[in-house]
Amino acid sequence: MSTVLLVLAVVVGAAYVYRHIVVKGQRCTSTAKLHGKTVIVTGSNTGIGKVTAIDLARRGARVILACRSKQRGEAALHEVRRESGSNQVVFMPLDLGSLKSVRSFAETFLKSEARLDVLVNNAGIYLQGRTEDGLGMMFGVNHIGHFLLTSLLLDRLKQCEPSRVVNVSSVAHNFGKIDFDCLNTHKALGLGTSFMEVLQVYSDSKLCNVLFTHELAKRLQGTKVTCFSLHPGAINSELARNTSSVLQLLLKPLTAFFFKNTVQGAQTSLHCAVQEGIEPLSGRYFSNCTVREVYDKAKDDAAAKKLWELSERLCGLA
Ligand SMILES: NC(=O)c1ccc[n+]([C@@H]2O[C@H](COP(=O)([O-])OP(=O)(O)OC[C@H]3O[C@@H](n4cnc5c(N)ncnc54)[C@H](OP(=O)(O)O)[C@@H]3O)[C@@H](O)[C@H]2O)c1
Ligand SMILES: *[C@@H]1O[C@H](CO)[C@@H](O)[C@H](O)[C@H]1NC(C)=O
Ligand SMILES: *[C@@H]1O[C@H](CO)[C@@H](O)[C@H](O)[C@H]1NC(C)=O
Ligand SMILES: *[C@@H]1O[C@H](CO)[C@@H](O)[C@H](O)[C@H]1NC(C)=O
Repeated sequence: MSTVLLVLAVVVGAAYVYRHIVVKGQRCTSTAKLHGKTVIVTGSNTGIGKVTAIDLARRGARVILACRSKQRGEAALHEVRRESGSNQVVFMPLDLGSLKSVRSFAETFLKSEARLDVLVNNAGIYLQGRTEDGLGMMFGVNHIGHFLLTSLLLDRLKQCEPSRVVNVSSVAHNFGKIDFDCLNTHKALGLGTSFMEVLQVYSDSKLCNVLFTHELAKRLQGTKVTCFSLHPGAINSELARNTSSVLQLLLKPLTAFFFKNTVQGAQTSLHCAVQEGIEPLSGRYFSNCTVREVYDKAKDDAAAKKLWELSERLCGLA
């Protein structure tokens, strides 16, 4: 009997330690205040984006919630205001799957707001299909939409330096590859609908985030605008909402135990957005609030440049 109890105690203890040390990860410890600063968080109506917005509002920033759904965006607006105790929170519609919407967001923002100090490119989607511009959905939303958004806001970031761009990528970028032929012919990184193919396309889009950050940092040399990409951790969020219901049912108990909650998941984004002293690490990739090495393919100068030029063409900037 006592052996059983002992074993049980050890198992429960180990599970507790696992969840509270390994899963939880590091917290952003910066106490930086952001009074007088303006930040944009894309996809901030749910998941880690919403937590990021609440935290930045608590630090005194004026926070723009850039979300695609008016209904979900306005619901989040009330919640972020309530949770942060700040009324300096605004909702502005932004659908990253539409180049027209990105342009109209940028125009509204530049007209109505004086500053931009931090841009958090957080929105992400895990879904096959095409955007309204005919781009592969994950490539279009996770990369091109943010590419155009960042490009249109870059001058304002420069005017407000020191400023930052934070790019929420994923550890999945390690499995990514950039198929330039497929991009040229299909405006997508990969095609296919099987589970593995979809996972591949998601990973590819996340590799774009890391490469983009690499190239952007180079282009920003000599300015005080810095940029970072990151893996937030495996998070119990809504990201898997469009995967098969069988998969979701299987994943639920696993994610509840093994994945971070959204507060834990937002810590590395916050670290990259506010931590003092990381400016010399511009262009680098973070995980668990720590800078990490990436594989050569994620800091490949030629691929990053090529992707940049292709992205400019695809969103009509070149
Ligand atoms: N969850 C993880 O384990 C994990 C791991 C690594 C990286 N990430 C990355 O972390 C970021 C945040 O994900 P999350 O886990 O918090 O997922 P989430 O709960 O699904 O939140 C994603 C957010 O992106 C928004 N979004 C999707 N498509 C959009 C579009 N076309 N235009 C504007 N906004 C759009 C969503 O808005 P709607 O509510 O309107 O759809 C939502 O607000 C993503 O970039 C994701 O790739 C997540
Ligand atoms: C994150 O960092 C903490 C503290 O350094 C460490 O205990 C934990 O194992 C790390 N987690 C991961 C997933 O790397
Ligand atoms: C993040 O990645 C997207 C797509 O790759 C890009 O458009 C965006 O501007 C990037 N931001 C940073 C800081 O790298
Ligand atoms: C994705 O999932 C959401 C929430 O379950 C649902 O409202 C939406 O219609 C789905 N989209 C697609 C294209 O399946």
